[in-house]
Amino acid sequence: MEASRIEEVIGEFVNLKRSGKNMKGFSPFTNETNASFFVSPSKNIFKCFSSGKGGNVVSFLMEHEHFSYPEALRYLARKYNIEIEEKEPSPEELMQLNEREALFHLNAFAQKSYTDNLFDHEEGKAICLSYLKERGYRDETIRKFQLGYGLKTWDAFSRHAENNGYKKEYLLKTGLSIEKEDRIYDRFRNRAIFPVHNLSGRILGFGGRILVSDENKPKYVNSPESEVYNKSQILYGLYFAKNAIIREDNCYLVEGYTDVITLHQAGIENVVASSGTSLTTEQIKLIKRYTANISILYDGDTAGIKAAFRGIDLILEEGMNVKIVLFPEGEDPDSFAMNHRSNEVISFIEGNANDFIKFKTQLLKKEAANDPVKKAGLIREIVESISLIPDAIYRTVYIKECSSILDIPEQTLMNELNKMLRKRFQQKGRVSPLKDIPEPPVYAPPPQHELDPQTAEHQERNIIRLLLNYGSDDIAFEEIDETQKRVSMVVKVAQFIINDLKEDEIQLQDPVYHTILNEYILALEKEFIPDEQYFVSHENADIARIAVDLLSTPYELSKNWVKNKIIVPTEKQHLKISVESSLLALKAKEVERQITTNQHRIKGSTEEQDLLILLEEQKRLKNVSREINARLSRIITK
Ligand code: UTP
Ligand code: MN
Repeated sequence: MEASRIEEVIGEFVNLKRSGKNMKGFSPFTNETNASFFVSPSKNIFKCFSSGKGGNVVSFLMEHEHFSYPEALRYLARKYNIEIEEKEPSPEELMQLNEREALFHLNAFAQKSYTDNLFDHEEGKAICLSYLKERGYRDETIRKFQLGYGLKTWDAFSRHAENNGYKKEYLLKTGLSIEKEDRIYDRFRNRAIFPVHNLSGRILGFGGRILVSDENKPKYVNSPESEVYNKSQILYGLYFAKNAIIREDNCYLVEGYTDVITLHQAGIENVVASSGTSLTTEQIKLIKRYTANISILYDGDTAGIKAAFRGIDLILEEGMNVKIVLFPEGEDPDSFAMNHRSNEVISFIEGNANDFIKFKTQLLKKEAANDPVKKAGLIREIVESISLIPDAIYRTVYIKECSSILDIPEQTLMNELNKMLRKRFQQKGRVSPLKDIPEPPVYAPPPQHELDPQTAEHQERNIIRLLLNYGSDDIAFEEIDETQKRVSMVVKVAQFIINDLKEDEIQLQDPVYHTILNEYILALEKEFIPDEQYFVSHENADIARIAVDLLSTPYELSKNWVKNKIIVPTEKQHLKISVESSLLALKAKEVERQITTNQHRIKGSTEEQDLLILLEEQKRLKNVSREINARLSRIITK
């Protein structure tokens, strides 16, 4: 964990941009429109304000990749080239792995054995490696994408896996094997194998391409849906593309495995494939984590155009920008890139990228040219697409463009647009009084848990926040010593807080805060101050969670400070005031609580003697309360 840099690790999954001392991006856990996912490289934590999740680099991997704790550590070790000694799991250990893990293990095993078949088995070399070479793939490309070959024998792989301790149950669940009449045989036989990776490079499933075309057999066979393989949520190639997508701030979307691989080989790496299924919103959201720009690269045939049409609207709805590049009829990105130089491919793509309005108009203009009814239909269709864009400014820009291309007054198009927006709004069960559809609601942070006014939770939380953020910072005081001389002394914030609470015998009521404070007390007895990392990685998950929350809580100005118009640039510069006032606020709350308790006793008291004592105590408490509040206001107004 020390070797890992949290922004590097999370940066593999989320497009992070610098934001002051922190890095910021869109939450990978929710579908937010305002970036509220923060990574603090200095504190080594992340915090997602839209889902409430937060933690260190390991908890991120566990949350995001569904890794177990050891898996997350292994991932980091691999990333940072740290050896961890580990033995291969034995068959018994394999049985105990949870199902997801077991499926991943089996897929990894399958990939290795398919790759072995391809490079080391006579049949694989003769039939498949030669095929791939002939198509133009180089060794390093085949290795990088971990391509393989499934043998012809009907149960070669299933037997091999069972001999290695993999259970039939999992062979069936991954779909690597199929059971028929009590016999088990291989799904991928006599096919080139394309493993499908998740964002961290683990294998979710496979596609298998036939080697000699045969009308009676499908060109591709794919893994069935499983615990780990959900085709609507997978983009082929994203694992290899994500860094390039961030770098280029654009993602090329193609149709097939071979398009991805060939473009990669040509040095164009920001490319992913929807793999034959029609594009889904989930897939678009995967891309949105890294960029807001998608270019659809499809065949110029009717099927390709239709598919592009469907994709456009979904992309626009996500508030992303979309361009369309159609390849010459009969060519797909794969064949085009194999037959042209890299720079020709790039300039073809750049020269033929149209925004969706140009794309739709050019295609439809021809057939609609002399037919007013068709032309009206075309206009409506384009405006329909524009109406899906969530951002009003973009909508206006596109309306302008559409107006000039189709030579229709802007106002006419605007009226049509507003009609559609209103209709859609009403369909959602709301009546818009507005001319235009309102913007989606601005992100509002989830409400903090309700504060019970009776407890000192808020004040206790603030004390712990100060300890975690500034525990080992110094604060200076002036004191009058026995000889009436002014001496200045410097103390650590943690030391000061703990002494102060001890002096007034104040205990924290909240069990987690109490535990954290105790850890500070024990540590200080040994003369050290635990740092924030200690709590962030605490074995007690509640403590770790709260530590992350508090480390990422933006500092709130006290209401009094705001009231008195005190400008506070940063808390650190006013640390002493902050610490002192926070302690007083906690004490004020504590006295308030004692006053309430005492009040109840007074009401319930029947003995006159008791009553006198209680009233005396009440007077004392009220004085203490007054004194505390006076000091509090002196501190914050001086
Ligand atoms: P294509 O037919 O365009 O195949 O299907 P391709 O990727 O260009 O393959 P080559 O170049 O002919 O070898 C595009 C994608 O659709 C899916 C595959 O993911 C394929 O890559 N597909 C296609 C299937 O899943 N099943 C099929 O039978 C055909
Ligand atoms: Mn192809």
